[in-house]
Amino acid sequence: MKLLITGMAGFIGFSLARQLSGRGHTIIGIDNLNDYYDVTLKQARLNVLSEYEDVHFVRLDLCDREGMTELFSHHGFDSVVNLAAQAGVRYSLDNPHAYVDANLMGYLNVLECCRHHGVGHLVYASSSSVYGMNETVPFSTRDSVDHPVSLYAATKKANELMAHTYSHLYDLPTTGLRFFTVYGPWGRPDMAMFMFTKSILEGRPIDVYNHGDMSRDFTYIDDIVESIMRIIEVVPQRDSAWQPSLAGPDSSSAPYALYNIGHGGPVRLMDFIHALEEAIGRRAECNFLPMQPGDVPHTFADTEALYQAIGYQPRVDVWEGAKRFVAWYRDYHRV
Ligand SMILES: NC(=O)c1ccc[n+]([C@@H]2O[C@H](COP(=O)([O-])OP(=O)(O)OC[C@H]3O[C@@H](n4cnc5c(N)ncnc54)[C@H](O)[C@@H]3O)[C@@H](O)[C@H]2O)c1
Repeated sequence: MKLLITGMAGFIGFSLARQLSGRGHTIIGIDNLNDYYDVTLKQARLNVLSEYEDVHFVRLDLCDREGMTELFSHHGFDSVVNLAAQAGVRYSLDNPHAYVDANLMGYLNVLECCRHHGVGHLVYASSSSVYGMNETVPFSTRDSVDHPVSLYAATKKANELMAHTYSHLYDLPTTGLRFFTVYGPWGRPDMAMFMFTKSILEGRPIDVYNHGDMSRDFTYIDDIVESIMRIIEVVPQRDSAWQPSLAGPDSSSAPYALYNIGHGGPVRLMDFIHALEEAIGRRAECNFLPMQPGDVPHTFADTEALYQAIGYQPRVDVWEGAKRFVAWYRDYHRV
């Protein structure tokens, strides 16, 4: 299979490329290497990937329409995994245009290229943040997600709607994946596990929002990668028997699918901090703060549909995951 991974210098894209390598595929990865966070980390990930003969990197922006068309014409991809995006909830409050550029304009280029170049399956990243004001737990892909609380979430929901349109109109099989708080080695510096570890090791206090009354369905990177690899093989089909009156928003007559990928159990923020303290071997000094705008207090993934589709349930809990992350962090930063 010839596969395109967008956002390959990013946390999930890099981890996916590493695992896919050696399985008989040709993997092309693109990334614009933007400076939303430390570019040396992105470059270090690419340095690791440069060791693999079946993984090839091209620096390219999703918004470069001509460049994208050339890439797709040249390679003729069987499947595309679109992970490139402007991520992060808090950053979207001050930098809305970055989200519209990458997540809407860039994403449209991906859809158009898939449509015109006969791509067999587009798998794309959505996010648990689409659940916004939803309070019914666990969060199900059958729930309504019409009340996003950040522009980031709104662009991810828009991705799902745009994918459905292309599945319906052009028979492009699409699968959306709502990732729940992904963490692990080579993770993102703007996310809690990375920031907390850095602060604890440097002897600085950590900012704990909503006075610690938060929970997240933390999902270990290897579980995410295993799920994506299996989902690539599960190509949605047209379903002429589909009835809108009986169906939920996660199915269609079009070749369209949507799944949560989460660990499947929320962890309280204070327990998460304890797991990190244990892994680091030091106590955290907590700076308790109110809730941040755009954030949601709790996330919890219903993963039954994913399990039915791929026969895999995430395995690594946060205690084990924190140990593996801290081991990587210390090794990478030599601290
Ligand atoms: N990590 C999580 O917890 C999480 C949760 C929910 C959803 N997601 C989604 O999963 C995907 C991957 O997330 P990640 O954690 O690996 O983030 P990341 O920021 O590490 O990776 C995204 C990569 O995309 C690249 N990129 C951004 N805009 C681009 C553009 N216009 N053209 C080309 N490359 C571009 C960035 O340089 C970056 O390397 C994103 O779509 C994100 O929104 C992640």
